[in-house]
Amino acid sequence: MRRSLLDASRLGLARVNIASHVWCAPAALLMLAALGCAGETDTPTAAESTSALANENKAPPHVPKPRADDTAVQQAANAMLEEGRRTFRHDTFGDEQFWGGKLRLHEAILGTALGGVGDGVSPSAALAVGLKVDRAALPAELIAQLKQGKVDLDDPATTQALLKLDAVVGVKGVFANDGEQLTSIGIQCALCHSTVDDSLATGIGERLDGWPNRDLNVGAIINLSPDLTALTELLGVSEATVRSVISSWGPGKFDAELVLDGKAFQEDGTPAATLIPPAFGLAGVNLHTWTGWGAVPHWNAFVANLEMHGQGTFYDPRLDDKTQFPIAAREGFGHVRSETDLITPKLPALHFYQLALEAPEPPASSYDASAAARGKQLFAGKARCAGCHVPPIFTEPGWNLHTAEEIGIDDFQAQRAPDKRYRTAPLKGLFAHVKGGFYHDGRFSTLREVIDHYDATFALGLSDSERVDLEHYLLSL
Ligand code: HEC
Ligand code: HEC
Repeated sequence: MRRSLLDASRLGLARVNIASHVWCAPAALLMLAALGCAGETDTPTAAESTSALANENKAPPHVPKPRADDTAVQQAANAMLEEGRRTFRHDTFGDEQFWGGKLRLHEAILGTALGGVGDGVSPSAALAVGLKVDRAALPAELIAQLKQGKVDLDDPATTQALLKLDAVVGVKGVFANDGEQLTSIGIQCALCHSTVDDSLATGIGERLDGWPNRDLNVGAIINLSPDLTALTELLGVSEATVRSVISSWGPGKFDAELVLDGKAFQEDGTPAATLIPPAFGLAGVNLHTWTGWGAVPHWNAFVANLEMHGQGTFYDPRLDDKTQFPIAAREGFGHVRSETDLITPKLPALHFYQLALEAPEPPASSYDASAAARGKQLFAGKARCAGCHVPPIFTEPGWNLHTAEEIGIDDFQAQRAPDKRYRTAPLKGLFAHVKGGFYHDGRFSTLREVIDHYDATFALGLSDSERVDLEHYLLSL
């Protein structure tokens, strides 16, 4: 079931294409054949069949031929999808200048034995900090050796070999001209927003794009750096402080606002980092991120420029607010112009690909269907959830933000964003990110705790069995 998530035919766009053209060309030739096929038949597309059915009691069915510009749109959509997928998985936007160039993380991966610093990072150590290995990038021989336990997972040289195969999800190794020596490293969107299905071993399997990597310990990875000058200078604190802050994050979390406001801890001393959210199920959703910074293309540009340290252009004058964003205002983060723009040309297709990432379907065995059916009634009725989480997008169509008070929590994280609010989190595919907990900082470790919170905040008076039903419904989304 999980493998089928990777199948392009699950995406609505590809489905229309296959439905209309599969009879005349094998899937691989679909795009080339589409033009040639178009004129040869009256076979209706899925959408046309539906509208023909709706009209069956009226005029005799009129089935229009696909128009040339429909075909052109379809081809453009396929090309965008391919390009966006490539960008999401493989593009670093030139950020090697930071992760390798400044943080020198490649040296930490190599270790002194291979010309770097420290002990080096073995595959076991890399997997332990939540990095994932893309099975599809591994040659058959290596897969066989892995299955037989013949690969040395304790040797940093194996990590270097995996990077050379481009097999570490979200991490790109740059190699010197002879191709042997790792000389820099960059990161990709997939580092945080993809995981794997563990089909070969824990941490090794097929990519699951859009699934948040809740095993990934970003802080521990940055902490491997032998040189944190870039961060100590930016934040104006000692190296020891930077190291203790990033070590406080833990798995599945990152603090995107730290480089804007320098706030490392909430008032009660818990880390200010937030959970990595899913990047699937976002089509139709207006504002994104936990605190609604903007729409997907805004945040994509934000992240690629300010967090990944790619080379591009970014404009957001809200960051000029010296009180709310002292560091960003001082550094001019709202007015980034790089000499070469490696980000802006990638934004259209990247956006398109993300919108095509549907939330995965939960396995039928993972929840009780009759309890979920009762929970659905509660969600829309007594529990009043659908007032904000409007099906089927499960956030508000429109301006989907709320004050902290409205959802009964503190406003620490909301105050770190321009609108000072929390965004109604879309709930499709919740089952795929139970690890790390719920709400922006994972304060509720289970869905039951989330439900108990709403029950108390809104005085819902839900019985124990109603809470159980609601939980099954949430797991079924
Ligand atoms: C180091 C980990 C990391 C990387 C790399 C990363 N992100 Fe994110 N992403 C996050 C975190 C954490 C958030 C939540 C930020 C917040 O709410 O403050 C987020 C939020 C998002 C959201 C909003 C999701 C929602 O629920 O609305 C989108 C979309 C997104 N990222 C896309 C991308 C894209 C595209 C890239 C590559 C250009 C990328 N991210 C790279 C960690 C990462
Ligand atoms: C007033 C609007 C509102 C109502 C009513 C509401 N929610 Fe929410 N919900 C939110 C907001 C806003 C968030 C994001 C909180 C955050 O970022 O910390 C959220 C987050 C969640 C999450 C966490 C999602 C995640 O990815 O961590 C779950 C689960 C959830 N709500 C379920 C429910 C259920 C069940 C109900 C009904 C009992 C409900 N909500 C009622 C606004 C609402």
